[in-house]
Amino acid sequence: MPGPKKLFIKSYGCQMNVYDSERMAETLGAEGYVTVDTAEAADMVLLNTCHIREKAAEKVYSDLGRLRPLKQANPDLKIGVAGCVAQAEGAEILRRMPLVDLVVGPQSYHRLPAMMQAVGQGARPVDTDFPAEDKFDHLPDRPARLGGPTAFLTVQEGCDKFCAFCVVPYTRGAEVSRPAERLLAEARTLVEKGAREITLLGQNVNAWHGGEGGLGRLIRDLAQIDGLLRIRYTTSHPNDMDDDLIAAHGDCDKLMPYLHLPVQSGSDRILKAMARKHTAAQYLTLIARIRAARPDILLTSDFIVGFPGETDADFEATMALVEAVGYGTAFSFKYSARPGTPAAEKAPVPAEVADERLHRLQALLSRQQKAAQEAMVGREVGVLFEKPGRMAGQITGKSDHNHAVHVEGGQNLIGVLRRVRITRSDPNSLAGEITPAP
Ligand code: 5AD
Ligand code: SF4
Repeated sequence: MPGPKKLFIKSYGCQMNVYDSERMAETLGAEGYVTVDTAEAADMVLLNTCHIREKAAEKVYSDLGRLRPLKQANPDLKIGVAGCVAQAEGAEILRRMPLVDLVVGPQSYHRLPAMMQAVGQGARPVDTDFPAEDKFDHLPDRPARLGGPTAFLTVQEGCDKFCAFCVVPYTRGAEVSRPAERLLAEARTLVEKGAREITLLGQNVNAWHGGEGGLGRLIRDLAQIDGLLRIRYTTSHPNDMDDDLIAAHGDCDKLMPYLHLPVQSGSDRILKAMARKHTAAQYLTLIARIRAARPDILLTSDFIVGFPGETDADFEATMALVEAVGYGTAFSFKYSARPGTPAAEKAPVPAEVADERLHRLQALLSRQQKAAQEAMVGREVGVLFEKPGRMAGQITGKSDHNHAVHVEGGQNLIGVLRRVRITRSDPNSLAGEITPAP
């Protein structure tokens, strides 16, 4: 008797793709597929792709090239491209890459089983529709066995903001919120299956409007679920931080003191050209209000350097904003012109100038990260243990502020939240000791 069919999924880019990959694996699981860890062991390979910057998009083609010998050795191997490159390039992928069997955009995953059947009959289907139905309504319920104590939950998809540099409104479409009742039900299932921390996901998560009140209200409702210990959310737009969500950071214990709030630039001129629709001063005022609600909150951001027209003075304004905020960590990117976006029409900043700015910004952000980590030494924080550590005898988890924390011993504590006294700051992680249970 043949064994079960084997599926390998590789996720690129953001956490929303990680969540979608889980849901695709579950959908194909209902069709008899089990997931495996390598393409070599698979009968079906799905690349869940990212289109946000040119490098991410091109990586998909080099990875597809690397699958060629596997397909030659096993002509029955099926290869699918999912995600945002699939959405943006559609049938072009089939033309460029004859080894690809199917192309499926992020809103059509519920149609994968039917597409797989078509592939079995020799077709090469492409589905990049934005169907009227919600894909999540057509995906199977979450299965009995899920991964560890942390889980993602997509509450919102798409974006209506149209920042001048960004492909998301084109690849993920208009903002759509999943209804509150569905989310509460899925969260309860996740908790029953062992999740202790849920991260709410959305391209514009704080624009969620799938029920009465906004995201703050949803967070408060989720906080009522027994057994759920922690809530986080990402990614937010500054203009959607409403009063109730800010207040939740002060009065909802389960909402962790961590917020990713991308600003992209500290120059009003560039913010305007990016169509971000707020100024640097408005962002700083917002940060002050959030910190008034939750003084120890750890803030993170995304930055783009070398946006078309960015002058030295504009870049200095970004450096000044970073100095003024003091981030726990942040992501910074060199501007990458994306086809179809308004900014792609404009003359780029010379590459060496952008490189030098990126280098300076990253050096400043690294210093801030180090300072934020060192400020934790001596403090006692909550840590939810997730897995054995890299070193034998260690166990690893995330602190309330989302720092990776390693402790010695405690192998039986996976899935448990304990108080930990931080004893040392290492590059990109903290070390600590579990404090005796009260
Ligand atoms: N070039 C560089 N960075 C980009 N981002 C989005 N689009 C681009 C682009 N064209 C960055 C932004 C965003 C993060 C997810 O990726 O900083 O917040
Ligand atoms: Fe892209 Fe975020 Fe701007 Fe939406 S808000 S267009 S996802 S950068």
